[in-house]
Amino acid sequence: MTQQSGAAESGPSSAATLDNLLEESRTFSPSEEFARAANATQALYDEAAADREAFWANQADRLHWETRWSQVLDWSDAPFAKWFVGGRLNVAYNCIDRHVEAGHGEQVAIHWEGEPGDTRTITYADLQREVSKTANALISLGLQTGDRVAIYLPMIPEAVFSMLACARLGLTHSVVFGGFSAEALRTRIDDAQAALVITSDGQNRRGKALGLKENVDIAVRDADSVRNVLVVRRTGNDVEWNADRDVWWHELVDTQSEEHTPEAFDAEHPLFILYTSGTTGNPKGILHTSGGYLTQAAYTHHNVFDLKPDTDVYWCGADVGWVTGHSYIVYGPLANRATSVMYEGTPNTPHEGRWWEIVQRYRVSILYTAPTTIRTFMKWGNEIPARYDLSSLRVLGSVGEPINPEAWMWYREHIGSSTTPVVDTWWQTETGGIMISPLPGVTATKPGSAMGTLPGISAKIVDENGAEVGWGGGGYLVLDQPWPGMLRGIWGDEQRYRDTYWSRFSSEAGPIYFAGDGAKYDSDGAIWLLGRVDDVMNVSGHRISTTEVESALVSHPSVAEAAVVGAADPTTGQGIVAFVILRGGEADDGDALVKQLRDHVSKEIGPIAKPRQILVVPELPKTRSGKIMRRLLRDVAENRELGDVTTLQDSSVMKLISSGLAKPT
Ligand code: WTA
Repeated sequence: MTQQSGAAESGPSSAATLDNLLEESRTFSPSEEFARAANATQALYDEAAADREAFWANQADRLHWETRWSQVLDWSDAPFAKWFVGGRLNVAYNCIDRHVEAGHGEQVAIHWEGEPGDTRTITYADLQREVSKTANALISLGLQTGDRVAIYLPMIPEAVFSMLACARLGLTHSVVFGGFSAEALRTRIDDAQAALVITSDGQNRRGKALGLKENVDIAVRDADSVRNVLVVRRTGNDVEWNADRDVWWHELVDTQSEEHTPEAFDAEHPLFILYTSGTTGNPKGILHTSGGYLTQAAYTHHNVFDLKPDTDVYWCGADVGWVTGHSYIVYGPLANRATSVMYEGTPNTPHEGRWWEIVQRYRVSILYTAPTTIRTFMKWGNEIPARYDLSSLRVLGSVGEPINPEAWMWYREHIGSSTTPVVDTWWQTETGGIMISPLPGVTATKPGSAMGTLPGISAKIVDENGAEVGWGGGGYLVLDQPWPGMLRGIWGDEQRYRDTYWSRFSSEAGPIYFAGDGAKYDSDGAIWLLGRVDDVMNVSGHRISTTEVESALVSHPSVAEAAVVGAADPTTGQGIVAFVILRGGEADDGDALVKQLRDHVSKEIGPIAKPRQILVVPELPKTRSGKIMRRLLRDVAENRELGDVTTLQDSSVMKLISSGLAKPT
């Protein structure tokens, strides 16, 4: 392990950080001991470089196929890909039954811990019984292969049982994060035409039992597609009951047979839809299928985290409502027969050492979380993790947003005893699995860099014209070869799929995927992700579109116009700052109205979209064609000197805005 000369430390996401990134010269090589025992070696890169399709065929052999495929990749109808053509498999069988059949039924699959401190230990044999019962219950409700099921649950084992029961039956799940509002749930149920919603009576959040089913009641009021609502009893909250529609989990599922024989489905059978924010107001239903997705989830989980199923205890701190939870709480780890930890609650309930207590108790050896969480722990103080025995940890992962070098170093030093490899993993809901990341036994890492593409993956950084930039250069991140876990489309909107991802760049070899992220090669060719280049914000690792928040604001009767920007935030990466013009031109910047508007956004989308700051302004900066110049508003929100204002239709507007803001509120 070598630590070379230190680069300047800085806060995240600021212009200063980006400059510092280019100067980063510290590198951390894997220890010899780690490298010797690692799952992945340099040979993996060589194998993929020699023959990409043969490489992926080998990776698909991690899975059990009922019928083998006849072709690895069919890209003839690009950008619509087919992987492992003709192959048939059952995703749930691969995640559960085959491990039980191989004699691992007594191995713990999930150490679950509830926020109030209750626990559940679920072995692979238990998982087989629970998922079989759930599958039988879904059959009894009349669900049929291809139907969509919305899952709106907190982080409880039933969320995993539900997802796997859907996979087992060939139902397509759409998990909706439990922090989303009734309105957000409603649009997702409608778009997918879900036939069933699975929810709970409530969820534990910061020591309180919050309601959940009441949001479902509102969301399904006019939803013709929904025949039933299946309700898990978690908190004991009182709930309204519609006897024609609602069914208790403990009455229906718990009385089912523990046996269910899975059938195989086509490799391209839809496994799930997951909604994510785009640049317009409507979230996109990202569609993933079975064989390729599971191959990439299992391959990346095995190699990036160096998982040893017999000895490791793995913990991904995400929520199953996000793609990280899909690929790295459920499908990847279970396909690899991991023993995982799953935690229901918040990291500071009942105290700020809760996570480290969990690491100590279960001897967690691999931890995967987001930079925003790491920065929160930094804020709480070094002495908190120092109170616990974290010596079991041997690999640390980061995901969801650019990690600033300072947070990377803190993570390694204070959580990883200055010895564990840190893997910064770049990917997206659309990519299905990790794409750019170090391999912990191979790559010499630099704090803050995701380093390079994984074996089998191809990415480039290109300029406006699609030409690859050289080392030291920056531009747009693109993926120029199809990959097994790639999205297969946007649910119900073929054109939007083409327009959003495949229309900006292309090559003679075919269409090229535009990721929407800016990136740079440093002088050694390492990749540094620089954040979104579109109107999508990244708040605590969650994607939220500026338009979505603007639509929510203008749906309030007092708001005439709104413009929203993501401004650098030391903890959450970006914070949402909204500029609003009130109706009738009134300049009411009173606290009461601002609070009302923040709550309104929370009700329309969910608490994660609540603006950090709302500024009432008399005007918004627009170009001559009427486009809001968010760049200038970002300058205001980040207290920077204003950039170029010459394209403004009325250049005095910025003075008006700035002077309005100077006024005490
Ligand atoms: C950002 C989360 C920098 C990026 C898995 C991407 C990252 C968006 C990283 C996808 C990283 C994710 N470094 N940025 N390691 N990982 N991002 O769909 O902007 O919720 O486009 O998927 O998060 O967010 P999503």
